[in-house]
Amino acid sequence: MKIVALVGSNRSDSYNKKLALFMKERYQAKLSIELVPIDQLPIYNQDDELNPPDIVKLVKAQIADSDGVLMLTPEYNHSISAVLKNALDWCSRVEQVLVNKPTMVAGASMGLHGTVRAQMHLRDILNSPGVSALVLPGNEIFVGVVHEKIDEAGQLIDQPTIEFIDQVVDRFIKWIHTVKK
Ligand code: FNR
Repeated sequence: MKIVALVGSNRSDSYNKKLALFMKERYQAKLSIELVPIDQLPIYNQDDELNPPDIVKLVKAQIADSDGVLMLTPEYNHSISAVLKNALDWCSRVEQVLVNKPTMVAGASMGLHGTVRAQMHLRDILNSPGVSALVLPGNEIFVGVVHEKIDEAGQLIDQPTIEFIDQVVDRFIKWIHTVKK
């Protein structure tokens, strides 16, 4: 099954990117996870939406061609980052590539709450008319205090978190089959 990962951080050392790469490796027998370069998208401009730059076409084509989307969000000022919101805005217009797309949400931050507030906003946005993704209900992956759970090599080392993500990924696979029927 082809899954695209949208990572909402453009930081080179991003924990959310490390989490995405960890998941790509760990679940490779079940899923083919590819990171989509949403950090390279220009700022959304309605003037350009009918004839967007090539990178916009590429990102939207990768999403359209996938069986599902994994979104990993940091928390910026109690919400999602501009990088992720920008990608969602591009995807919500003209070819609305997220409509009815099975989607799972996760997020990592150094704070205790592990992106709870960002994910609440994200789930709202994913329910907007132009986005309308089919978000896996519940299954909230909040990786708080992430700097103590991901090691120098970028490996997630917190066993309860790993086991919980294992379960959510299995439920996401079932969700994809359920909503595809
Ligand atoms: C943050 N951070 C943060 N953390 C949090 O728990 N709640 C918040 O509201 C914010 N706000 C915030 C704003 C801005 C502009 C920055 C740069 C950071 C901390 C943030 O979650 C932390 O830096 C994460 O490590 C960011 O994710 P990546 O880049 O590691 O994936």
